[in-house]
Amino acid sequence: MSSHTMLIAHISDLHVLVPGDLAYNVVNTNPLVESAIAHMANLSPEIVVITGDLVHNAQIAEYQRLKSILSQLTMPVYLLPGNHDNRDLIRQVFTEHTYLPRTGCLQYTVEGHPLRLIMLDTNVPGKGHGELDSDRIDWLDQQLSHHPHQPTLLFMHHPPFNTGIDLMDSIGLISHQALAAVVKKYDCIERIGCGHTHRPIQTRWAGTLAYTVPSPVHQVSLDLSTPSQASTFTMEPPAYQIHLWNSDRGLVSHLQYVNAYEGPYPFSNWFAHQYLQPPFFAAAFFRSRLFRSRFFPQPLFSQPLLSSHCSLQGFGDRP
Ligand SMILES: [Fe+2]
Ligand SMILES: [Fe+2]
Repeated sequence: MSSHTMLIAHISDLHVLVPGDLAYNVVNTNPLVESAIAHMANLSPEIVVITGDLVHNAQIAEYQRLKSILSQLTMPVYLLPGNHDNRDLIRQVFTEHTYLPRTGCLQYTVEGHPLRLIMLDTNVPGKGHGELDSDRIDWLDQQLSHHPHQPTLLFMHHPPFNTGIDLMDSIGLISHQALAAVVKKYDCIERIGCGHTHRPIQTRWAGTLAYTVPSPVHQVSLDLSTPSQASTFTMEPPAYQIHLWNSDRGLVSHLQYVNAYEGPYPFSNWFAHQYLQPPFFAAAFFRSRLFRSRFFPQPLFSQPLLSSHCSLQGFGDRP
């Protein structure tokens, strides 16, 4: 049986604004989001997941701007709300996203792929922290029990673990024990992918691997002092997560930076620099059959000086 592969891109915390506005009076988020989405369009994954804080001020004009930016993506895009979002406005603007429930929380399951996606809505209207009440937890349990062994990715905005950054932990997920009890029941959960922290963080949690992704806009400062000294953000490089699923090898996850950087350079440059310099050619000449036949017509050694297995190909396997 041939193996199935699948590429899933996970991006979070776009904080799209009405053009002209700045996030926290500093960050012009829209051009940064446009760059990240263009980068993803070029990568062309099968699925894109966006785990909340879709916009910054929960205004309908921001969602309309986001919809326009996302129109360059031709693959299915799955949306979740974050603490900056408004469920009803997401429903109102993204009418063609028919997977969105018409009422209540925006949580749903994506079937029909080698990996099942389960999207959890941790939004608490008007609050920074997240919560999964008993209805949402029960729904998750039900979804998982339908196919308890199908490889699954859980996505949500608020991470279920403490990050060590006080600022973020003070607005974390307050119902993580109930979630952990359900997650521990199933061994099919490959990852729990989250946003909210605007940082790349990962930990083993409830028997699986939970992580958060950097934002394509601003990043929360890495401040692990207790209590945190300040509530600040930086402009560290924007990034998103890529998951490569292969039915034979399982899931591997990569962090992809968005900004332009130097390269790629071929590794063969290393070989050329190391071995195709004048001293190398001089040494090769003095060891060559031409040199030896001209100046040493009688063999000096019983074995050739340059053994036949020392070929140039032997260097080609350098990383
Ligand atoms: Fe955010
Ligand atoms: Fe958030």
